[in-house]
Amino acid sequence: MKLFLILASLYQTSALLFHALQTIRRNAPELDCNYYSCAPRPSCMSPPLNQSLLSEQDKYDLGWYVVANKKDIRYNKPFQATIWNKNYVIWKNATSGEIHGLDDVCPHKGASLAGGKIVKGCVTCPYHGYEYNGEGTLSKIPGINFTLSAVHNVAKYHVVEKNGWVYLNTNPYNASLDVNIFEEPEAVGGDFSPVFLEMDFNCYSRILSENSLDVMHIAFVHTFGNAEKPAPLQEYPPTQISPYHFKTSYLYESGKESMVKKVFDIKTLKIENEFVLPHTTVARVIFDKYISTVITFALPISETRSKLFVKTYRNFWNNELGDIMTEKMMRTTMLQDKAVVENIDMRYMEGKFNMKYDKLQNTYKTFYKRFVHRFCDVPTKVENKTIDN
Ligand code: FES
Ligand SMILES: [Fe+2]
Repeated sequence: MKLFLILASLYQTSALLFHALQTIRRNAPELDCNYYSCAPRPSCMSPPLNQSLLSEQDKYDLGWYVVANKKDIRYNKPFQATIWNKNYVIWKNATSGEIHGLDDVCPHKGASLAGGKIVKGCVTCPYHGYEYNGEGTLSKIPGINFTLSAVHNVAKYHVVEKNGWVYLNTNPYNASLDVNIFEEPEAVGGDFSPVFLEMDFNCYSRILSENSLDVMHIAFVHTFGNAEKPAPLQEYPPTQISPYHFKTSYLYESGKESMVKKVFDIKTLKIENEFVLPHTTVARVIFDKYISTVITFALPISETRSKLFVKTYRNFWNNELGDIMTEKMMRTTMLQDKAVVENIDMRYMEGKFNMKYDKLQNTYKTFYKRFVHRFCDVPTKVENKTIDN
C-alpha cells in the first residue's frame, strides 16, 4: 500500500509526460532524426490549394473519423455514431467479424435503425421491421413481396478498426480506394502500454485539436507545467510529413514539480507535436529511453459538441497500476482543458493576433479551413421562420 501511495504521488507530478508531448534526453537535448522524427517531405507533397482539385483518394483520406473505441462496437449490437449532425448505424457481424456502417435512417419512414436489432446479419428497423443487410440493401419486408430497387436501399460507409479505434469514412463507400489511416509508431513497435479514454465537450472540434497543439497553455492550464518558464527553450518549426500531416518539436524546461525533474532530475524535455487532418493530434515526450505519447481525435458531433478520443502510450510502468494512474492523470488533464475550452466564445476564437509558438495551430487551422470545414467554421444561428398556410 505504501509503495502504491509513493508511486501514485510520483505519478501525479508527472502529467507533463502525458499531456502534451515531450522528449527528454539527458545531456543530449539536440533533436536528431530518428524513428520518431521524420524529415520534411518535398514541397511536391503539398496538397493542391484548391479543394476542388483534390483527387478522389485525397477526399477519401480526409473522410476518416474515429467514432468509437474498439470495445464499444459489440457483436450484433447496433451502435449509433454522429458526425457533423448526421447519424450512422454501425454493427459488427458475429459470424464474419466484419463491421458495417449505414445511414441511420430507414428509407421507408425515417426511423433510426440504431434502435433496432441485428437478425441474421441484417439490421431490422424498429418501426415496421424492414431488414437491411450490411451492404445497405433491403432484404426483407415482413408480410410483403417486393421488387429490388435502389430507392429501397440505405447508403453504405466504410468502417474499419485500427489500433483500438473504430473509424468511419463519411464519403460514399468506395472499395477501389486505399485505406490510408494514420498509424502511430507506438502501435507497431516498442514495448508500449496503451490506455484509452473519451470525454464529451461542449465546443467546436477544431478548438479541441488546436488546444492539443498549443504548447504555451500547458504552464497555465495544467498543474504539471513550468509556470516559471512557460516558453520552450528552442523551437523547430512545422515540417510536412505527408500532404495532411505536419510536425513540430520543442525543447522545454521541465517544471520543478514535474516527475521528470523530481524523479529523473532531467532539466530539458523534447516535445514532439503533430497533426493529421481531419482531427488527429500527437503529443510525444521522450526522456532517456522513455517515451510517453498522447494521441487525440476530436470527433465533431455538431458545430458546438464534440467527443474527444484519447489514446496514451508509455514504455514504462507497464502494469495495471501504471494503467490506473495514467487514466486518472489523463482524465484530470482533460477536465482542466475542458474548463477553459468550453468557455471560448466562438465569435472570437480566431483571435486578433498570434505569437511565436502558435505556428502549428495556425497551420492546422489553415489546412482545416481549406480541406475539412471551411464553409461553416463559425456556426451561424439558423433562423426559424414560420410560414403561414
Ligand atoms: S420506418 Fe423503417 S420499416 Fe418503416
Ligand atoms: Fe491541455
